Amino acid sequence: MITTGKHLADLWIFGYGSLIFKADFPFKTRTPAHLPNWNRRFWQASSDHRGTPEFPGRVVTLTKTPLSSCWGMAYQIHQPDIESVLDHLDYREKGGYQRLETTIQLTAGPDVSAITYLADETNPEFLGESSLFEMVNQIKQATGPSGSNIDYLFKLEESLKKHGIADHHVFELAHAARNP
Ligand code: SIN
Repeated sequence: MITTGKHLADLWIFGYGSLIFKADFPFKTRTPAHLPNWNRRFWQASSDHRGTPEFPGRVVTLTKTPLSSCWGMAYQIHQPDIESVLDHLDYREKGGYQRLETTIQLTAGPDVSAITYLADETNPEFLGESSLFEMVNQIKQATGPSGSNIDYLFKLEESLKKHGIADHHVFELAHAARNP
């Protein structure tokens, strides 16, 4: 728990994938933010949300990239909700993701400490890089309990555009998926 003086502080959560377009938890405010030195990549398999164990989908994780930066959405969680929100997100992001405590830069505000969910290369569902053709092919075919993998890609593209965030990797995959 983060404390400031005598008062218990709120918590910031940084989302860069489905957490941008699906905020199924209570929050006080949200604002675009960025995480320096990381990039968003479709390098994580999803066998529980956007695919199945037989045919996993591909979802985003973060990859350490000095001098780069990943734009996303920061959510301020009211102190009394912190425990239940983290429990909820630990379960939702259980497919290889772990909490990472880091510092983000709010678009309209200061740098703040935040928790983000990272699926690093040691988790069993980490896929890593593949050709554009292979990644698009997998995304177009996979579907799971949370919906189709292509829906995840298009929703992410749409929400990034809505917030004025440019991401070449995501936009290139979405373009290739539309124009076979
Ligand atoms: C996130 O959205 O921040 C993590 C990855 C995902 O759930 O898509």
